Amino acid sequence: MERKIESILDNYQRDRGLLVSILQDIQAECNYLPKEALVQVSKGLDIPLSWVYSVATFFKSFSFKPRGRHLINVCLGTACHVRGAVRVLEKIERELGISRSGTTEDLKYTLETVNCVGACALGPIVIIDGEYSGQMKTDMVKPLLEKCD
Ligand code: FES
Repeated sequence: MERKIESILDNYQRDRGLLVSILQDIQAECNYLPKEALVQVSKGLDIPLSWVYSVATFFKSFSFKPRGRHLINVCLGTACHVRGAVRVLEKIERELGISRSGTTEDLKYTLETVNCVGACALGPIVIIDGEYSGQMKTDMVKPLLEKCD
């Protein structure tokens, strides 16, 4: 991993102003921001580690915990909630043996919830890796999960 981080730093000419882009590339590479990588960024850019952390924690899209290869988002906005989103969420939790904001041990899935993704008429909505599935019912969960490699 060390070499990969070095190459990401080089791609951005070790420019501190591009810290967010550097962190995005590391997250894309590792699926999260490992502590060792942040230490390496701090040294590579010659900035305090606390600076790196403060930027990384500012953006909700960064994760400090390993994440699964597939990101599942269940919308719990009002319209989806009324149409049974919680039942769908609980079915996913049972199928994967994890709770919301959890990641399966094999690092295949990470489950998260969101509040309204602007497709209320199609609720309940489940989004896997950016792909929307609408009018979700509990019996649609297993086949949907099985479509992930
Ligand atoms: S509440 Fe789920 S898309 Fe709006």
